[in-house]
Order: sequence, then structure tokens, then C-alpha cells
Amino acid sequence: MNDIHHIVTSEPTRISSRRDFLRSALALSVFSASCGSSRLLASVLPDDVWEKDAKLTGLYTLRFGDFPALRNVNGSIRLQVPGAPLSLGRIVVTRISNTEITALSELCTHEGCPVDPFMGGRFTCQCHGSVFDSRGRVLVGPANRPLPSYPVTFRMGDDFVQIDVPGLVASSVKGDSQSGFALNQNYPNPASNQTTIEYSVEKQSFVAISLLSILGKEISELVRKEHEAGIHRITTDVSGLSRGVYLYRMETSTGFTQTRKLTVI
Ligand code: FES
Repeated sequence: MNDIHHIVTSEPTRISSRRDFLRSALALSVFSASCGSSRLLASVLPDDVWEKDAKLTGLYTLRFGDFPALRNVNGSIRLQVPGAPLSLGRIVVTRISNTEITALSELCTHEGCPVDPFMGGRFTCQCHGSVFDSRGRVLVGPANRPLPSYPVTFRMGDDFVQIDVPGLVASSVKGDSQSGFALNQNYPNPASNQTTIEYSVEKQSFVAISLLSILGKEISELVRKEHEAGIHRITTDVSGLSRGVYLYRMETSTGFTQTRKLTVI
């Protein structure tokens, strides 16, 4: 079965068994970018942690109230993200214009030294003199690769920015992950027009799949009906959505829940 659905953004119907987001006691260690050597500045709570037994979706919310530097152009902070591989978890977040925020690895692509704090529109590596621009592009070698960048969701007027941190769990599963129920990664991903989500149903059951904002607010229902056992797929049109990271979640009447990320470009 292959259904075509269009995203409906008005008056969404909530799935009755939906669970609220929980804030977690997991914290990010945040380091000031205003000093040459990193120092602990504050801690924040990532919003995107689901109920017990679930895992991080890998999305982090930085609220400007906690990080006032990000309110201002050229404001910059450095993060160290526990749980991510060291090479991926050291991130510098910089407001490079009123409308754009970047999240870059702070590790120089030459031999891995941390770059200096953002200054004069540049990141400089003191080890051997490489210089990168505000988007991580190489201005001066010996580095010959840009600083890796991470997807950021930020819209003018928002008082927060969200970062898709690599190396963390990309989906959360509740229920028996060894069972015949599964929600697969959509393809293509990232997507700009249509994308397909494939999912498996072990036995006859009611299935609901919802598209959610990164804050967990339901945008639309993609699936809500009884299913026979088997592999199913749904194709949805995301061209009407703003660029950014979204979540989609599958829930069944048997108690299975799984959530994944979807990126719209
Ligand atoms: S490690 Fe940065 S220039 Fe060599």
C-alpha cells in the first residue's frame, strides 16, 4: 500500500495516546567563547528527551535567555556535548547575522586543535595558523577542509536555536525493539519535496504516525488507521514546510512507539 498525503498545518488532530515531552536532567556543558581557554559557564537542559526508556533524539535547544551572546551578531558560544563522540561533540555556535546562526565543529581540520574564539569574523587555529570564515570555510591553510557544520534551525523572531547534534541517537524506541514493529528512516532525507516513510507492522493493529515540530508540537497526522501485518509505506509532501529539522513518530495499539528525525531543505 502506498498512500500520498499532503501536509496539513491547520487544526491538526492530536493523537490521543500521545505523550508530552519531558525535560531532562541531562545537561550540556557550556563554555564561554570570550576567553582563550574554555571555562564552564552554565548548563542547559535539552528539550528533546522522551519519556522513560526513550533516548535522546539528538536535538538541542539553546534558549537565548540562557545564552544572551546569541542575541547579538558575532555573539558566539562553545559547547561540549556529553554522549557525542569527542570529535563531534565540541561545537561552536555563532550568530553570524540577524538571520543566520551557524554550528561548527571547533576542531581544526588540519590536526585537530581547537580553534580560537570567533573574532573579527574568523576562527583562527593557533597551532599552525589556519583561518576559517564564519561558515567554517578555509581562508588560510594548512587546513584544506572546512570545519564540519551541523544543521541548525533558527527563524527570525525565535528566542531559541536548535542544533542537530551528530553522533547521538537518531531515533527513540519504546516497546520491544526486537519485535516486528519498526519505523524506518525516511527517504530521501533531507527532503525538499516528497519523502517516503516505510514502517513494519508485526500483527494487525491500529497505527498512528504523526509529523511533529522539533518542539514536539504536532503538525499533521500522516497515518491513522488499522493495519494488517506487513511492511507499509507512506509518501508525504514536505514542500510546504519551512526548512529545518522535524520529528515523526509511530505509535501502535500494541504499545510500540518509535520516533525519528526528518530534515527539510
Ligand atoms: S591543527 Fe589547526 S592549523 Fe594545524
